[in-house]
Amino acid sequence: MNLLTFRTEEDLNRAGAGLIASLLQIKPKAALGLATGSTPIGIYEELVKLHRSGSVSFAKASSYNLDEYVGLSGSHPASYRCFMNTHLFDLVDIDPANTHVPNGLAVDLEQECDYYDAMLEDAGIDLQLLGLGHNGHIGFNEPDDSLIAGTHAAMLQRQTIEANARFFDSEQDVPKQAITMGVAGIMKARQIMLVVRGASKAKIAQQALTGPITTQCPASLLQLHPNLVVLMDEAAGAWAK
Ligand code: F6R
Repeated sequence: MNLLTFRTEEDLNRAGAGLIASLLQIKPKAALGLATGSTPIGIYEELVKLHRSGSVSFAKASSYNLDEYVGLSGSHPASYRCFMNTHLFDLVDIDPANTHVPNGLAVDLEQECDYYDAMLEDAGIDLQLLGLGHNGHIGFNEPDDSLIAGTHAAMLQRQTIEANARFFDSEQDVPKQAITMGVAGIMKARQIMLVVRGASKAKIAQQALTGPITTQCPASLLQLHPNLVVLMDEAAGAWAK
Protein backbone atom coordinates (compact mmCIF):
# COMPACT_ATOMS: atom_id res chain seq x y z
CA MET A 1 0.00 0.00 0.00
CA ASN A 2 1.24 3.43 -0.89
CA LEU A 3 -0.11 6.04 1.57
CA LEU A 4 0.32 9.65 0.48
CA THR A 5 -0.79 12.81 2.27
CA PHE A 6 -0.89 16.17 0.55
CA ARG A 7 -0.52 19.62 2.04
CA THR A 8 -3.05 21.27 -0.26
CA GLU A 9 -6.16 20.12 -2.11
CA GLU A 10 -4.52 21.33 -5.30
CA ASP A 11 -1.53 19.03 -4.78
CA LEU A 12 -3.84 16.09 -4.11
CA ASN A 13 -5.96 16.80 -7.18
CA ARG A 14 -2.88 17.12 -9.36
CA ALA A 15 -1.46 13.85 -8.07
CA GLY A 16 -4.75 12.00 -8.63
CA ALA A 17 -5.27 13.42 -12.09
CA GLY A 18 -1.59 12.82 -12.89
CA LEU A 19 -1.94 9.14 -12.11
CA ILE A 20 -4.92 8.79 -14.45
CA ALA A 21 -3.29 10.93 -17.14
CA SER A 22 -0.06 8.92 -17.10
CA LEU A 23 -2.03 5.69 -17.40
CA LEU A 24 -3.83 7.12 -20.46
CA GLN A 25 -0.52 8.24 -21.96
CA ILE A 26 0.97 4.77 -21.56
CA LYS A 27 -2.25 2.91 -22.38
CA PRO A 28 -4.66 5.08 -24.39
CA LYS A 29 -7.26 2.28 -24.39
CA ALA A 30 -7.29 2.04 -20.60
CA ALA A 31 -10.49 0.99 -18.82
CA LEU A 32 -11.12 3.45 -16.00
CA GLY A 33 -13.23 2.60 -12.98
CA LEU A 34 -14.78 5.87 -11.83
CA ALA A 35 -16.57 7.19 -8.77
CA THR A 36 -18.96 10.04 -8.02
CA GLY A 37 -19.53 12.04 -4.82
CA SER A 38 -17.64 15.11 -3.67
CA THR A 39 -14.26 13.37 -3.33
CA PRO A 40 -13.28 12.99 -7.02
CA ILE A 41 -14.59 16.36 -8.25
CA GLY A 42 -11.24 18.18 -7.90
CA ILE A 43 -9.47 15.34 -9.69
CA TYR A 44 -11.96 15.49 -12.56
CA GLU A 45 -11.48 19.28 -12.75
CA GLU A 46 -7.75 18.76 -13.00
CA LEU A 47 -8.20 16.11 -15.71
CA VAL A 48 -10.34 18.53 -17.71
CA LYS A 49 -7.53 21.11 -17.45
CA LEU A 50 -4.98 18.54 -18.60
CA HIS A 51 -7.23 17.61 -21.50
CA ARG A 52 -7.70 21.27 -22.52
CA SER A 53 -3.96 21.84 -22.45
CA GLY A 54 -3.53 18.86 -24.78
CA SER A 55 -1.75 16.68 -22.20
CA VAL A 56 -4.31 13.92 -22.07
CA SER A 57 -6.84 12.33 -24.36
CA PHE A 58 -9.69 9.99 -23.45
CA ALA A 59 -10.53 9.30 -27.10
CA LYS A 60 -9.70 5.59 -26.91
CA ALA A 61 -10.45 5.05 -23.23
CA SER A 62 -13.52 3.48 -21.69
CA SER A 63 -15.05 4.09 -18.30
CA TYR A 64 -17.13 2.04 -15.86
CA ASN A 65 -18.77 3.74 -12.91
CA LEU A 66 -19.10 2.09 -9.56
CA ASP A 67 -22.75 2.71 -8.98
CA GLU A 68 -26.09 4.33 -9.77
CA TYR A 69 -29.26 4.98 -7.82
CA VAL A 70 -32.16 2.66 -8.53
CA GLY A 71 -35.14 4.55 -9.92
CA LEU A 72 -33.28 7.58 -11.32
CA SER A 73 -32.92 8.13 -15.04
CA GLY A 74 -29.62 9.37 -16.42
CA SER A 75 -31.13 12.80 -16.94
CA HIS A 76 -32.11 13.22 -13.27
CA PRO A 77 -29.76 15.90 -11.89
CA ALA A 78 -28.85 13.73 -8.88
CA SER A 79 -28.17 10.60 -10.94
CA TYR A 80 -24.58 9.46 -11.15
CA ARG A 81 -24.81 9.39 -14.95
CA CYS A 82 -25.69 13.08 -14.90
CA PHE A 83 -22.89 13.77 -12.39
CA MET A 84 -20.34 12.08 -14.65
CA ASN A 85 -21.57 13.88 -17.77
CA THR A 86 -21.39 17.24 -16.00
CA HIS A 87 -18.06 16.80 -14.23
CA LEU A 88 -16.10 14.85 -16.81
CA PHE A 89 -17.60 13.15 -19.84
CA ASP A 90 -19.05 16.26 -21.51
CA LEU A 91 -15.81 18.16 -20.90
CA VAL A 92 -13.29 15.74 -22.42
CA ASP A 93 -13.01 13.76 -25.64
CA ILE A 94 -14.26 10.42 -24.32
CA ASP A 95 -16.69 8.68 -26.69
CA PRO A 96 -20.05 8.67 -24.85
CA ALA A 97 -20.62 5.14 -26.15
CA ASN A 98 -17.58 4.04 -24.16
CA THR A 99 -18.85 5.43 -20.85
CA HIS A 100 -20.77 2.98 -18.69
CA VAL A 101 -22.89 3.63 -15.63
CA PRO A 102 -25.32 1.00 -14.31
CA ASN A 103 -28.86 1.57 -15.56
CA GLY A 104 -30.89 2.70 -12.56
CA LEU A 105 -34.11 2.28 -14.53
CA ALA A 106 -33.50 -1.35 -15.50
CA VAL A 107 -36.71 -3.33 -15.15
CA ASP A 108 -34.81 -6.47 -14.23
CA LEU A 109 -32.12 -5.40 -11.76
CA GLU A 110 -30.54 -8.83 -11.56
CA GLN A 111 -30.15 -8.97 -15.32
CA GLU A 112 -28.66 -5.47 -15.35
CA CYS A 113 -26.13 -6.51 -12.68
CA ASP A 114 -25.12 -9.64 -14.60
CA TYR A 115 -24.77 -7.57 -17.75
CA TYR A 116 -22.59 -5.02 -15.92
CA ASP A 117 -20.36 -7.76 -14.48
CA ALA A 118 -19.91 -9.33 -17.91
CA MET A 119 -18.82 -5.93 -19.25
CA LEU A 120 -16.37 -5.43 -16.37
CA GLU A 121 -14.93 -8.87 -16.93
CA ASP A 122 -14.46 -8.14 -20.64
CA ALA A 123 -12.94 -4.72 -20.07
CA GLY A 124 -10.58 -5.49 -17.17
CA ILE A 125 -10.41 -2.29 -15.12
CA ASP A 126 -6.91 -0.80 -15.20
CA LEU A 127 -7.42 1.81 -12.50
CA GLN A 128 -10.31 2.06 -10.06
CA LEU A 129 -10.90 5.41 -8.39
CA LEU A 130 -12.66 5.17 -5.03
CA GLY A 131 -14.01 7.50 -2.38
CA LEU A 132 -14.61 6.35 1.19
CA GLY A 133 -17.94 6.43 3.02
CA HIS A 134 -18.05 7.63 6.63
CA ASN A 135 -19.09 4.12 7.60
CA GLY A 136 -16.28 2.50 5.59
CA HIS A 137 -18.32 1.74 2.49
CA ILE A 138 -16.79 1.55 -0.97
CA GLY A 139 -19.15 1.91 -3.89
CA PHE A 140 -22.38 1.11 -2.08
CA ASN A 141 -20.95 -1.95 -0.36
CA GLU A 142 -22.16 -1.11 3.13
CA PRO A 143 -20.84 -2.63 6.40
CA ASP A 144 -22.56 -5.97 7.01
CA ASP A 145 -21.99 -9.50 8.29
CA SER A 146 -21.16 -10.53 4.75
CA LEU A 147 -20.43 -8.75 1.47
CA ILE A 148 -21.44 -9.53 -2.10
CA ALA A 149 -18.78 -10.24 -4.71
CA GLY A 150 -20.53 -9.16 -7.89
CA THR A 151 -22.56 -6.17 -9.04
CA HIS A 152 -25.84 -6.10 -7.12
CA ALA A 153 -28.71 -3.92 -5.97
CA ALA A 154 -27.92 -2.75 -2.43
CA MET A 155 -30.05 -1.09 0.23
CA LEU A 156 -28.42 2.15 1.40
CA GLN A 157 -27.80 2.56 5.12
CA ARG A 158 -29.28 5.49 7.04
CA GLN A 159 -25.88 7.19 7.41
CA THR A 160 -25.33 6.99 3.63
CA ILE A 161 -28.80 8.37 2.88
CA GLU A 162 -28.15 11.26 5.28
CA ALA A 163 -24.72 11.94 3.77
CA ASN A 164 -26.13 11.96 0.23
CA ALA A 165 -29.20 14.07 1.03
CA ARG A 166 -27.14 17.15 0.13
CA PHE A 167 -27.50 16.25 -3.55
CA PHE A 168 -31.31 16.10 -3.33
CA ASP A 169 -34.10 18.53 -2.38
CA SER A 170 -34.76 16.56 0.79
CA GLU A 171 -33.68 13.37 2.55
CA GLN A 172 -36.96 11.73 1.51
CA ASP A 173 -35.94 12.10 -2.11
CA VAL A 174 -32.76 10.03 -1.74
CA PRO A 175 -33.34 6.63 -3.35
CA LYS A 176 -33.11 3.77 -0.86
CA GLN A 177 -31.42 1.40 -3.28
CA ALA A 178 -28.49 1.55 -5.66
CA ILE A 179 -26.83 -0.76 -8.14
CA THR A 180 -23.21 -1.11 -7.13
CA MET A 181 -20.15 -3.00 -8.24
CA GLY A 182 -19.40 -5.67 -5.66
CA VAL A 183 -16.19 -6.02 -3.69
CA ALA A 184 -14.77 -8.62 -6.08
CA GLY A 185 -15.39 -6.34 -9.05
CA ILE A 186 -13.54 -3.56 -7.25
CA MET A 187 -10.68 -5.75 -6.08
CA LYS A 188 -10.10 -7.11 -9.61
CA ALA A 189 -8.89 -3.69 -10.81
CA ARG A 190 -5.18 -3.75 -11.63
CA GLN A 191 -4.65 -0.63 -9.54
CA ILE A 192 -6.86 1.09 -6.98
CA MET A 193 -6.64 4.78 -6.08
CA LEU A 194 -8.53 5.52 -2.87
CA VAL A 195 -9.01 9.23 -2.20
CA VAL A 196 -9.96 10.54 1.25
CA ARG A 197 -10.56 14.15 2.20
CA GLY A 198 -11.44 15.91 5.44
CA ALA A 199 -11.06 15.41 9.19
CA SER A 200 -14.46 13.72 9.40
CA LYS A 201 -13.01 10.73 7.53
CA ALA A 202 -9.66 10.47 9.37
CA LYS A 203 -10.86 7.88 11.85
CA ILE A 204 -12.55 5.60 9.32
CA ALA A 205 -9.56 5.92 6.95
CA GLN A 206 -7.20 4.85 9.72
CA GLN A 207 -9.50 2.01 10.72
CA ALA A 208 -9.91 0.84 7.11
CA LEU A 209 -6.23 0.96 6.27
CA THR A 210 -4.61 -0.17 9.52
CA GLY A 211 -7.39 -1.96 11.43
CA PRO A 212 -8.69 -5.50 11.12
CA ILE A 213 -9.88 -6.66 7.70
CA THR A 214 -13.59 -7.09 8.22
CA THR A 215 -16.85 -6.95 6.29
CA GLN A 216 -17.99 -4.43 8.95
CA CYS A 217 -15.61 -2.00 7.23
CA PRO A 218 -15.71 -2.89 3.52
CA ALA A 219 -12.80 -0.54 2.71
CA SER A 220 -10.56 -2.64 4.97
CA LEU A 221 -10.54 -5.27 2.20
CA LEU A 222 -8.44 -2.85 0.19
CA GLN A 223 -5.51 -3.77 2.46
CA LEU A 224 -5.43 -7.03 0.49
CA HIS A 225 -5.02 -5.32 -2.87
CA PRO A 226 -1.50 -5.66 -4.32
CA ASN A 227 -1.51 -2.23 -5.96
CA LEU A 228 -3.32 0.28 -3.76
CA VAL A 229 -2.44 3.96 -3.63
CA VAL A 230 -4.19 6.18 -1.08
CA LEU A 231 -4.30 9.93 -1.57
CA MET A 232 -5.34 11.90 1.50
CA ASP A 233 -5.39 15.52 2.47
CA GLU A 234 -3.69 16.44 5.74
CA ALA A 235 -6.94 16.44 7.69
CA ALA A 236 -7.86 12.89 6.62
CA GLY A 237 -4.32 11.55 6.83
CA ALA A 238 -2.98 13.19 10.01
CA TRP A 239 -2.68 9.72 11.62
CA ALA A 240 -0.48 8.43 8.77
CA LYS A 241 2.47 10.71 9.50
C1 F6R B 1 -19.63 7.14 -5.27
C2 F6R B 1 -19.47 6.05 -4.31
C3 F6R B 1 -19.41 6.27 -2.86
C4 F6R B 1 -18.61 7.52 -2.46
C5 F6R B 1 -18.58 7.68 -0.95
C6 F6R B 1 -17.91 8.97 -0.54
O1 F6R B 1 -19.66 6.67 -6.59
O2 F6R B 1 -19.42 4.94 -4.73
O3 F6R B 1 -18.86 5.14 -2.23
O4 F6R B 1 -17.31 7.41 -2.95
O5 F6R B 1 -19.89 7.67 -0.45
O6 F6R B 1 -18.70 10.03 -0.94
P1 F6R B 1 -18.17 11.53 -0.94
O7 F6R B 1 -17.04 11.58 -1.88
O8 F6R B 1 -19.32 12.37 -1.41
O9 F6R B 1 -17.76 11.82 0.47
